[in-house]
Order: sequence, then structure tokens, then C-alpha cells
Amino acid sequence: MKRPKLLIIEDDEELRTQMKWALAQDYNVIMAGDRESAMSSFRKEAPLVVTLDLGLPPQPTGVEEGFNTLADILNKDNTTKVIIITGRGEKENALQAIAQGAYDFFYKPIQVDELKVVLRRAFQVSQLEREHRVLQQRLSRDTFEEMLGICGKMQDVFSVIRKISNTDAPVLIMGESGTGKELVARAIHRLSARQDKPFIVINCGAIPENLLESELFGHEKGAFTGAHIQRKGRIEMTESGTLFLDEIGELPLSLQVKILRFLQEKVVERVGGREQIDVDARVIAATNRDLKEAMKDGRFREDLYFRLGVIFISLPPLREREGDVILLARNFLERYADENRKKVKGFTNQAINAIEQYAWPGNVRELENRIKRAVIMAEGRKITSADLEFEALQPEYERMGLKEARDALEKEMILKALARNEENVTKAAIDLGVSRPTLYDLMEKFGIPKE
Ligand SMILES: Nc1ncnc2c1ncn2[C@@H]1O[C@H](COP(=O)(O)OP(=O)(O)OP(=O)(O)O)[C@@H](O)[C@H]1O
Ligand SMILES: [Mg+2]
Repeated sequence: MKRPKLLIIEDDEELRTQMKWALAQDYNVIMAGDRESAMSSFRKEAPLVVTLDLGLPPQPTGVEEGFNTLADILNKDNTTKVIIITGRGEKENALQAIAQGAYDFFYKPIQVDELKVVLRRAFQVSQLEREHRVLQQRLSRDTFEEMLGICGKMQDVFSVIRKISNTDAPVLIMGESGTGKELVARAIHRLSARQDKPFIVINCGAIPENLLESELFGHEKGAFTGAHIQRKGRIEMTESGTLFLDEIGELPLSLQVKILRFLQEKVVERVGGREQIDVDARVIAATNRDLKEAMKDGRFREDLYFRLGVIFISLPPLREREGDVILLARNFLERYADENRKKVKGFTNQAINAIEQYAWPGNVRELENRIKRAVIMAEGRKITSADLEFEALQPEYERMGLKEARDALEKEMILKALARNEENVTKAAIDLGVSRPTLYDLMEKFGIPKE
């Protein structure tokens, strides 16, 4: 194993050599006798931990140079753990150094055993902080407005959103259920000049047809039985914000005409009203239906389709997002573990395989829900594929004897591993944790052809 780097800043050569002897076995010790050489080593080696004698030349009896060095180091990288070495009776200096960000202090003469304990801990803490920082950086690079995605297809989506959010052009978002259509609509709104104005959602599929018209356009008092008071519709409430028409494919034909007129003329009329009300809303629509099919069947108006789809955004299903599934899975795991104060850290290898193999018909929403549930149910430190409910016992196994069931399961696992690895026996053997000859024997036993 590689020894971690430790920088010792000490102007007393004898003491320096002594420390090196005591610590060289556990650490890759780098030494410096003054501020300048200390900083040049620090920049070059980026050690996790530094021990620092406060009294450095040109004033070995003062502490100013030591404090300056401390500040230089922490400025360069504040995850570094600096352990101050100071003369006995200089408690005040030691405490001041702590106040300025040092990790711990030791009086001379140094008790090596004690120092070793503190060093070990300091390395652990620093290591964790640096790993955390890398993860944070990676996360902010992979995240766009609450959406995670590193695959090319999602990066393309993000760049379209960036380009079009500040226009008024209508947008049509298409994608299977759970692919993040609403997140995209909200991102567009947040990045637009309308961000402080309302974002109004209306789900065209969730409201009964007879109520939908007045929900969208509002009504005047007495417009129909039960219309006791005048009511503004959702479109009017949007004012100069963003109107999100979710499940636009469910919109009845009669209302499609009215929405089309609104898009063309930017005015609405309440049900039972005469007045034309100006509305300057930006419209974003979403659908998980194939609107082209719907148009062929006469269920969706072509003119409305082209009005809405000035800009198309097509969200890829999760199974087509190379590399994103695991990224999302880890992210949801961390989020729900935090939320539920559970100490689950990561997935078993088997669970990762299962996550990667599965087709995710419910896309990101399904992944999120499964992981949320798994975190709550998990008993171990890692999420297993059983926690993710991937291993419900096949009913046919229950009718078999133990040996028969074991063989059937074994055969199934081998076939799956081979399929996963494009029939490559060497890779499949690694996957299954058996040697290649063993796998060949098993394939023969179960009558699985080689090739
Ligand atoms: N890229 C992503 N990164 C992180 N979370 C996501 C991503 N895409 C979707 N989600 C999450 O998945 C869930 C579903 O997203 P959303 O509601 O936007 O999907 P949808 O396409 O509108 O689904 P539906 O068609 O079922 O209405 C939400 O909880 C959302 O936060
Ligand atoms: Mg939705």
C-alpha cells in the first residue's frame, strides 16, 4: 500500500531527523526547514497532513513566520490538517493557531506515540474531506437545475433548455412517464425572465372534461348551474408567467380549438363571458403519448401540434441514458438515507447488476420510489437486490424440491450472466464469482451450449 504523504516543517535539524525516523515507517515523510521551501513542497506534493513548528527562521524564537505559513497552507487547501508543534508553556500561541484553523497542537518534546495517534486520525479526516470535495464537484458538474445526467442525450437536453429558456417560444416536451418532463418545464421557467412570475400547472388528463374548460378559462357568475361566483381560470392566473399544460394528449378536441385560439391571439374569454382578457403567458406542454398517432386517428389537431411544438424536447427513457442509472441511484440512496437517518452506504454488487439490467419502464420515478422503499426496508449497511424487490421468489420454485430449485436458479443465473456478457464465458465467470473451468462444467451439466 502507498504510504500517505506527511510534510514536516521544522527548522531544528536534529528534531526533524528524529521525527522522520519515528514516522517513516507509516508515512512518506517530506521535510522543510522554512516557509518558502515548505510552501514549494506543499504545492508539489499536496500532503493531507502537515506538522508545523511555529518558530521558523528568520525569527526562530518568534511565531509570526509560523502563523504566516499556517495561513498560506490553509489558503491553498483548507482540507489540510495542520498539527502545530510549539514550546512548552506557549499555550496561548497554540490556542490562537487552533482558532486560525490548525487541527491540533503538541508541546515539545514530542511524545511520538501520542503524535502517531493524532496523525492517524488527522489523515482519516483529511482524506474524507477531500473525497467529499471531489464528489461535490462531480455532482455540481453532473447536475443541471436539480436534474442529474451525464449521458450525451441528457447533456443535449440541458443545452437546449439553456438556449430556449429566455425566449417566449412554446415548448412541447415528450417522454415516457417518469422521465422528468415536469422538472424540465420548471427548469425552463426558472431560467427565464418570467422566473418571479407564476408557474401554473394544469393536468389535462386528471380533470373531468366538463370541468376542464372552466378550470382553464374561468367562468362568469351564472354561466352554468353551480357557477355562483365569477372565477378566473388557470390561464388567466398565469398572467405573464409560465403555463404548463401537462398530458396535453388528453385534451378533448373541443378544448384543443380553444387553446389554439389562445395561442394565436393571446386572449381568453371566460365561460359565459364576452370580455377578451389579454394573457401574456409562455406555454409549455408535455405528453407521454405519441401525438403523431393521435393525429392520424383524428384525436389531436395538427395545427395545435405545430403551434405547441415550436421547440421540441424529447426526453430519453432511463434505459437509454448510458451511465446515468447508477449515478441517479447513488444520489437517491444518499438523499433518502439522510432523510430517514439510516446508515446505509451503497449497494451490493448484485444490486448494482440488477439496477443496470432492469429496463425501468417507470423511468426515474420508478427508480426513485424503489430506492426510497429499499432504504427504509434495508437492514444491512448495503442495499441488496432483495431490498430493491428484484428477487421475489419465482412462484414455480415454491413447487420444487430444494435440489431442483437450486439447479433451476443456478441455470437461470448462468444464462443471465452469459447474456449480460455477450456470451463471453471468461467475463461471465468473473461476474458469477467462479473459475472459468467451473463455469464450463456447469454449462455442460445444464446443457448450455458453448458459443
Ligand atoms: N434527471 C433527473 N434527475 C433527478 N431526478 C429526476 C430526474 N428526472 C426525473 N427526476 C425525478 O423523477 C420524478 C418524476 O419526474 P417528473 O414528474 O418530472 O416526470 P414526468 O415525466 O413528468 O412523469 P409523468 O409522465 O409520470 O408525469 C420526480 O420525483 C423527479 O424529481
Ligand atoms: Mg408529469
